[in-house]
Amino acid sequence: MQSFELLSQKFTLYFDKRHFPAEPATLYEPNEYFLKQGGKRVRPVLCLMGNELFDEINPDAWPVATAIELFHNFTLIHDDIMDKAPLRRGMDTVHTKFGDNTALLSGDVMLVAAYEYINKIAPLHLQTILRHFNQAAKHVCEGQQLDMDFEKKKTVKRGEYFSMIELKTSVLLAASLKMGAILGGAGERNQDLLYEFGKKLGIAFQVQDDYLDAFGDPQKFGKQVGGDILSNKKTFLLIHAFETASSAQLEALQDLLNGTASNKVESVLQVYRDCKVDEWALKLKNKYLDEALHHLEDIAVLSKRKEPLKELAYFLIKREH
Ligand code: IPE
Ligand code: IPE
Ligand code: MG
Ligand code: MG
Ligand code: MG
Repeated sequence: MQSFELLSQKFTLYFDKRHFPAEPATLYEPNEYFLKQGGKRVRPVLCLMGNELFDEINPDAWPVATAIELFHNFTLIHDDIMDKAPLRRGMDTVHTKFGDNTALLSGDVMLVAAYEYINKIAPLHLQTILRHFNQAAKHVCEGQQLDMDFEKKKTVKRGEYFSMIELKTSVLLAASLKMGAILGGAGERNQDLLYEFGKKLGIAFQVQDDYLDAFGDPQKFGKQVGGDILSNKKTFLLIHAFETASSAQLEALQDLLNGTASNKVESVLQVYRDCKVDEWALKLKNKYLDEALHHLEDIAVLSKRKEPLKELAYFLIKREH
């Protein structure tokens, strides 16, 4: 069994090369620019770990992990257009540097490159992997659309928020694990338990992401702190504030959301602090982490084999970027 660190290093060795031709540079350079910035590479490592939980790494796991990481990067390029985000991984976002139209097309061609990697695997698992990959990809689109729809809604229920983040974020983590498990020869029950582990972990992961968007350290976060507040994202922080605010706070919050105050971020953060949203975030993360770990415990392999996944789970919910 290999640790998160070792598997990340191995994946980086496999992945870090030019993925696109030189010409036309206006299409492909933005992708090279973006991929060079790295990122945590969580999803491909989850795929490799999902495989190693059951057996030695299948050679097909490397192209599948690569396809997953390319797909993830494609979603980020498009997400940053949708979220009007200026910064990612501490650098200018692709659309800021190269324009929206190029970012759309460079993202599109990155998605195609992801499918080319899927197409490299042996026929034995090709159809099954493709089915899971496509299902996750559709779910991400559905979640991303709901995320945007919610920006325009006055209020969003807690349950709606959790369904949305499950679609936009959790399912890709879960599917990465499951595809790895399939390549590792896992039985169906174990595959499903691992998928459930990934879904719960993904929720804790997005809760942490939303928390960092409000309370993160700008030096470490790499994205614009307060971006979600500026675009009226219905994160759990806002939903919890709505649920617990006094009528005066509620009115102030509504005015801030409807208006264009120059101190919007700071003022909303103050309401969040007053409503103790940060303490609640910690509880929420731990609840989902616990649920995730229960599913992991139920998987029928020696508990020693589960250690790297546990380590990764703890890292993900404590991350600062
Ligand atoms: C960011 O994912 C998008 C979300 C689903 C929150 P990561 O935090 O894994 O992004 P990188 O790849 O490490 O930059
Ligand atoms: C994005 O959620 C999830 C994706 C599918 C890309 P966010 O919009 O919160 O991700 P960040 O914060 O920009 O990374
Ligand atoms: Mg975003
Ligand atoms: Mg988004
Ligand atoms: Mg975010």
